[in-house]
Amino acid sequence: QTLAVSKICCIGAGYVGGPTMAMIAHKCPHIDVKVVDINADRIAQWNSDQLPVYEPGLDDIVQQCRGKNLSFTTAIDDSIRAADMVFISVNTPTKMFGVGAGRAANLEFVEKCARRIAEVSEGHKIVVEKSTLPVRTAEAVKRILANSDNAATFDVLSNPEFLAEGTAIEDLLAPDRVLIGGERAEAIEALVSVYANWVSRDRLLTTNLWSSELSKLTANAFLAQRVSSINAISALCEATEADVDEVASAIGTDSRIGPKFLKASVGFGGSCFQKDILNLVYLCEYFGLPQVAEYWEQVVKMNDYQKQRFVTRMVRTMFNTVSDKKIGIWGFAFKKDTNDTRESAAIYVCRDLLLEKARLCIYDPQVSREHILRDLRSIFTEGDGVISDAKQKLIDEHVSFASSCEEASADAHAIAVLTEWDEFADADFDAIFDSMKKPAFVFDGRNKLKAMDLQGKGFEYHGIGF
Ligand code: UDX
Ligand code: UDX
Ligand code: ADP
Repeated sequence: QTLAVSKICCIGAGYVGGPTMAMIAHKCPHIDVKVVDINADRIAQWNSDQLPVYEPGLDDIVQQCRGKNLSFTTAIDDSIRAADMVFISVNTPTKMFGVGAGRAANLEFVEKCARRIAEVSEGHKIVVEKSTLPVRTAEAVKRILANSDNAATFDVLSNPEFLAEGTAIEDLLAPDRVLIGGERAEAIEALVSVYANWVSRDRLLTTNLWSSELSKLTANAFLAQRVSSINAISALCEATEADVDEVASAIGTDSRIGPKFLKASVGFGGSCFQKDILNLVYLCEYFGLPQVAEYWEQVVKMNDYQKQRFVTRMVRTMFNTVSDKKIGIWGFAFKKDTNDTRESAAIYVCRDLLLEKARLCIYDPQVSREHILRDLRSIFTEGDGVISDAKQKLIDEHVSFASSCEEASADAHAIAVLTEWDEFADADFDAIFDSMKKPAFVFDGRNKLKAMDLQGKGFEYHGIGF
């Protein structure tokens, strides 16, 4: 017999929890969906016209459902108590202290959620892990839930999210697959029946708990590995007059390889790839598999190299010095169509350019200036959480902001394209060229302007991998 789901509570109103729950509410009008968070500001933003997450198509869906069967609230306990199904969708950042520092996932927030659920629940509930978690986390969650204050009982499912930022709504609408791992068929079927409202059954894959948890880490590791692999080849292309985009399309036609995720870039970013690989590395070490750990760690090392290589190439090309030169930074988000900057390559590129004493003028269409300053401050922050006066001064005196790519580039020695925003291709390149110092260098970390014939317009154009 199926456990009926009529009330869902999702703990964590972030990039994953918000859009996912909006889609469930949109597709399941018979289910009441409450998204809760300890961060009252974030909840207020979800209840305003300016959502905390920029995602094409998200505003529409939230507007349609909010106030009907979708609500955002800080009433965590009441919402958990009322729900048949509770999603845990909180952040699991890389642990920065103690055992496993720099690699292991910090499960503090997940554990706190589990304890809260155990404390306030009554009757029976299905608890769904949505956050990316190390394999065997469900074991810990189950043990915590086993000590419920009111003798509540629980099923634990793993339902990792595969949506990519910038295309979250498309991905949620038509997922390649939805993965549901669990132990009891009735509980698995309860979640299957939620997704079956809009996803065809052959795309709803069910596995055991551990396969589900591990598949999420493995999927992200494989995707990141493709980017690091093509980026490694991009360095070789630059040395050999091969063109990485030509190589990528040539190999992508092999159906065993496939054409997607072969775009060479200044380096991958985002909240998942690096964190999940480091977590995989940690797990391998924990289970006594150092060779496997080393294999995967190389994917992250290659990514670090790619970011450094980009700055080195800029400095070398610009006569070995960028000191006191204005550089227009186009894009700060980790990819287009998102306002997220977590692990964005731009943070590292800007840091290294600042250490070279360049003057940066930054423009991103969706990331706020405060947010960029916060990222730059934290990349210069020492272990004890404070920023030295010298580094603060470096930021104060060398970082400014613009409201367009034209403004960011006026009077600049170079442009660095760090995010592939579509609007960059529509910039007024003739005016930009006139306003820049000569030679007018363009370093395109996304090969976004490759087709624009900037060389023909007078610029000295350098992309990735050719
Ligand atoms: C390979 C390339 O596929 C081919 O395009 C190139 O021209 C020559 O090299 P081949 O070595 O004949 O062809 O066989 P392939 O099917 O690629 O298998 C190579 C090895 O990988 C085999 O030992 C195969 O058993 C193994 N393999 C392949 C796996 O272990 N797992 C797989 O999923 C695929
Ligand atoms: C990723 C996974 O794709 C998603 O399934 C998972 O749920 C979360 O992690 P996301 O980080 O949002 O999603 O974006 P993604 O499109 O995967 O891009 C990650 C990074 O790789 C970006 O910085 C992107 O610019 C870079 N990238 C991606 C490349 O440099 N080249 C590519 O070909 C693809
Ligand atoms: P993700 O990209 O995984 O969605 P985010 O950082 O965007 O990550 O979102 C996670 C959200 O979870 C944050 O808004 C954070 O405030 C919230 N959160 C963390 N711990 C708890 C908790 N114990 N109870 C409720 N919300 C929490």
